[in-house]
Amino acid sequence: MSGITGAALVAGIVGRPVTHSLSPVLHNAWIAAAGLNAAYVPFAPTAGGFAALAEGLRGGVIRGVNVTIPFKEDALACADQASERARLAGAANLLLFRHDGTIFADNTDGLGLLAALAIQAPGFDPGAGPAVILGAGGAARGAAAALVLAGAPDVRIVNRTADRAVALAADVGGTVRAVGAEGALKGANVIVNATSLGLNGGPGPEADLSAAPDAAVVMDMVYKPLRTELIARARARGLRTVDGLEMLIRQAVPSFEAFFGVAPPANVDVRALALKTIGKSA
Ligand code: ATR
Repeated sequence: MSGITGAALVAGIVGRPVTHSLSPVLHNAWIAAAGLNAAYVPFAPTAGGFAALAEGLRGGVIRGVNVTIPFKEDALACADQASERARLAGAANLLLFRHDGTIFADNTDGLGLLAALAIQAPGFDPGAGPAVILGAGGAARGAAAALVLAGAPDVRIVNRTADRAVALAADVGGTVRAVGAEGALKGANVIVNATSLGLNGGPGPEADLSAAPDAAVVMDMVYKPLRTELIARARARGLRTVDGLEMLIRQAVPSFEAFFGVAPPANVDVRALALKTIGKSA
């Protein structure tokens, strides 16, 4: 970041904690490779401090921010305008501070999910069959919204707490419905783990992969470790798998474009960089 002058474009990420976020690593690697006069920095407001931070940035003090746990709902709430995908997800991971003083909210997590599927499971068509989402928290909401918008004919939500699955289905609407675990994977086109199960090498979500079709794709949003228990089981079953690190990288691409007006340079191996960073923090 040695080329920063007073004319630099600034963007960042807001989270709490934000210390282990990979986003500064990805964005600053792209900034350096593109030779931009720009910087991407972390912000960790107090638990109730998100709105004050966002209000203070109105008018384009900085270009925008990505938003992570636990502020994604706050981010949507403070915006003047929001994309359809952010409204459907009920959360925003991207805020843009317009020069006219307004705040625009978007959600690129769903784009990241779909791009990761396209890259790691070539030929995957979200419209070709039922999607099964394990979990009913914020991550599941974003995945459900993305899959509905991508034309999934049946989006099944399976969750330990059934009421949350029912609420998610009612809020997102479209083809989303809450189902029990029994028989949920029958005919599935894609199975997405949107729970926190599998993190740090723990057991993954219960899912009877033998009930899934041979052509089903299994995607795990958990990427620490990269090979989660669910991914390992899916591979042992001969299913194609997609990892959460690719989703994280792919949600960053449209964010970078929105902040800096150019596509990230293709010649940076941000995946290797992210893996190195995860390895260091593990
Ligand atoms: P996020 O916003 O990241 O999705 P969240 O809202 O806390 O986080 O949601 C976590 C998800 O993981 C939920 O679907 C949760 O299930 P419940 O709604 O029943 O709590 C799921 N989850 C977490 N720990 C779990 C466990 N031990 N067994 C089953 N599901 C679990």
